Amino acid sequence: MPFRPYPLIDRAGRFAPLKAAVFVLLFVPGLWTAYDFAMGNLGPRPHDEATHEVGIWTLRFIFLSLAVTPLRELLQWSKLLAVRRMVGVAAFVYAFAHLMLYFVHQAFDVVKVASEIVLRIYLTIGFVALLGLAALAATSTDAMIRRLGAKRWRRLHQAVYVIGLLAVIHFFMQSKLNVYEPTIMAGLFVWLMLYRAVVAASAAARKAPLLVASGLAIVSAALTVLGEAIYFKLMMNVPMARVLAANLVFDIDLDPRPGWIVLAISLAVVIVAALRQLVLRRRPQLQTA
Ligand code: HEM
Repeated sequence: MPFRPYPLIDRAGRFAPLKAAVFVLLFVPGLWTAYDFAMGNLGPRPHDEATHEVGIWTLRFIFLSLAVTPLRELLQWSKLLAVRRMVGVAAFVYAFAHLMLYFVHQAFDVVKVASEIVLRIYLTIGFVALLGLAALAATSTDAMIRRLGAKRWRRLHQAVYVIGLLAVIHFFMQSKLNVYEPTIMAGLFVWLMLYRAVVAASAAARKAPLLVASGLAIVSAALTVLGEAIYFKLMMNVPMARVLAANLVFDIDLDPRPGWIVLAISLAVVIVAALRQLVLRRRPQLQTA
């Protein structure tokens, strides 16, 4: 059988620039972290820092693979679908590297690592998410789609929603006091899931995805603010009104609250999609680009 560089070509065997670019980009965070590690740029605890970096990128890749369907619809960019599997497999590779870094940190003590995974709930959750990603990566080939049948394959790959949720919970639990970034990720997860649920449930949503996406951006941001207030109340007994009020304070020296970031990111997607739809209306030939 002739060698076929699948990450670089489309189904017709032609060079696919989008796939090739994404393929190369997926290596960048890993190589960057390895470079920083080798150059001693990761601070006093380089192993910990590398574990964190690779864990964060695992989560980002899971989210990017979840974002492909909404982005494809909103941006009317069907070729995006061609990179979804690649991003999903990258998430698994990064998750595996994250586990291996943890192994290195524990001096390759398999019994210790196994008992920690069983005893520490945040590690158990991370491990279940990793097993899920492994199952999806192992069934991500065309041959496996044929073997399972498209319907069963699709149902199996819906497990990525649960994996995304487990990954966010793992991130939250290991972050302990500083839950700023996990809260943002949780808010974006809500937006991604709500968008899917609304589109799946309503024919009207298919006709007005931009309107739906903007409405859901506001709902997700509001839920992020509320979730943050509940979290601080439950974990630190901070009055909910104080956390809610903090969302209305604008100070250039402070980071914007997670709810505002969720709103900004999800509305930015809507604005880019609206601009692209305007361009496509004038130059429909770009639709195939
Ligand atoms: C899909 C699977 C996983 C994802 C998405 C994931 C993601 C993450 C993220 C985002 C962080 C935080 C990084 C930061 O704070 O900058 C983290 C930390 C961590 N993860 Fe995972 N992880 C996964 C699986 C695992 C597994 C299987 C293990 C080990 C059994 C593990 C062990 C750890 C450890 C030890 C930390 C650092 C905790 C600390 O510093 O106290 N993770 N992970």
